[in-house]
Amino acid sequence: MHSKILILDFGSQVTQLIARRVRDAGVFSEVYPYDVSDEFIRNYGAAGIILSGGPNSVTEDETPRAPQAVFELGVPVLGICYGMQTMAAQLGGQVENGTVREFGYAEVRARGHTNLLKDIADFTTAEGHGMLKVWMSHGDKVNSMPVGFKLMASTDNCPIAGMADEERRFYAVQFHPEVTHTVQGAALLGRFVHEICGCKSDWNMPDYISEAVAAIRAQVGSDDVILGLSGGVDSSVAAALIHRAIGNQLTCVFVDHGLLRLDEGKMVMEMFAENLGVKVIRIDAAQQFMGHLAGVSDPEQKRKIIGREFVEVFQVESAKIKNAKWLAQGTIYPDVIESAGKGKKGHTIKSHHNVGGLPETLHLKLLEPLRELFKDEVRKLGVALGLPEAMVYRHPFPGPGLGVRILGEVKQDFADLLRRADAIFIEELRNTPVEGTDQNWYQATSQAFAVFLPVKSVGVMGDGRTYEYVVALRAVQTLDFMTAQWAHLPHELLGKVSNRIINEVRGINRVVYDISGKPPATIEWE
Ligand code: XMP
Repeated sequence: MHSKILILDFGSQVTQLIARRVRDAGVFSEVYPYDVSDEFIRNYGAAGIILSGGPNSVTEDETPRAPQAVFELGVPVLGICYGMQTMAAQLGGQVENGTVREFGYAEVRARGHTNLLKDIADFTTAEGHGMLKVWMSHGDKVNSMPVGFKLMASTDNCPIAGMADEERRFYAVQFHPEVTHTVQGAALLGRFVHEICGCKSDWNMPDYISEAVAAIRAQVGSDDVILGLSGGVDSSVAAALIHRAIGNQLTCVFVDHGLLRLDEGKMVMEMFAENLGVKVIRIDAAQQFMGHLAGVSDPEQKRKIIGREFVEVFQVESAKIKNAKWLAQGTIYPDVIESAGKGKKGHTIKSHHNVGGLPETLHLKLLEPLRELFKDEVRKLGVALGLPEAMVYRHPFPGPGLGVRILGEVKQDFADLLRRADAIFIEELRNTPVEGTDQNWYQATSQAFAVFLPVKSVGVMGDGRTYEYVVALRAVQTLDFMTAQWAHLPHELLGKVSNRIINEVRGINRVVYDISGKPPATIEWE
């Protein structure tokens, strides 16, 4: 059994980062909502607990509080931002409603030679004070510490920027150690989990594989498992992992809806069926999808049709696998946390479709072997399982595929043109280094693709007039895909891609570059 750190989420935008940093330190950690029960806290078996930041003010009535058991369990507790404030308020200190918000870079003086901050500093002042460069984001602040606490850190604006009760091993910081702007953040969290909570670095991919393999075997026994393979990272890694565990008891169903990227279907079959020896049934359903999409140009309707047909095809195929009792899905940890977050649902901008969302109609039990992992861990796992890096580090691709990248009605010949234009764009991104770094432009962008615009424009080629379609290039940089900037690709690169597309893809005579951010635009065009 791993030692584990429990993170209670008070609603900060960056709570997941705490879990990722702790895992980077080699210690397993999970995020749960702050309002879990005392009983949950007592039974969880945490080696330490971290209270996250959050948007509320403890000075108001009825704002979130940590379960009292957190402070009675006898394990170390680290409060961050709101977590510090609620710790102070719950243990008898005082929090004042800030009149000015402090946001961004700050320099914090470490005090009191605590076990948490001892010898951790970015620089030392002339007077010999150890200083930390940190990132702050708060309005409220603690103005009186609970009994038993001593001062651990301070800034000019925030005299109590950190406090500690070393006897009970309770620590709290007003700044955010989980963000990279806090230079010593990883060192601080590492110190907390290793030295203060006593956790070993026992969370790593090779060990995880053997544990996960054993867990899958125990879970499914001699039953058969079906998995919908999409060619995307999550379902691919899930397939490789499950195959490692149960070999031929796994059957993958790969629905080719005709809206995949160039040679994608071939690549999936080569990688899984030929290289890894996985049983894969490839369903060539392009005709069926195209048939249902004919004459439909509304984006939402297109998405719904593709999603519905996908389920339909999958259902028919999986019914043929008689012994199957399990449906495997590539659900990952951020999906789990998001669906646990209550009342956060915003407007539906686009109805999402992916290989998930199948279960109820199939009457199969769910096998989700990646549900503990963050995306970067899924990628590391994929590499450790022998999947090619180029595949594991691919940009995300939407479930409806090129169906949402061909504006308006989807037609076979549009899809063929788009596939070729897109492949040229991606190839050039991969081949062009980003000056002054060891990355290429594919690695330096989060998502890049071509979009087919069903409008014709006039051009001239040789001596002749052309009247052909337009392709838009889209490349964005983003951390979370919720907001995104358009990538400032070098003009030479854009020029080369444009020339190649126009010369090599007959039917396209104009290429444009999308310079809209998200918001107000979205990443995909539909
Ligand atoms: P938007 O266009 O909403 O896209 O800015 C945000 C991210 O979501 C991806 N996307 C999808 N992924 N099924 C998916 O699995 C979908 O239906 C879908 N629609 C958009 C999009 O590619 C981008 O990464």
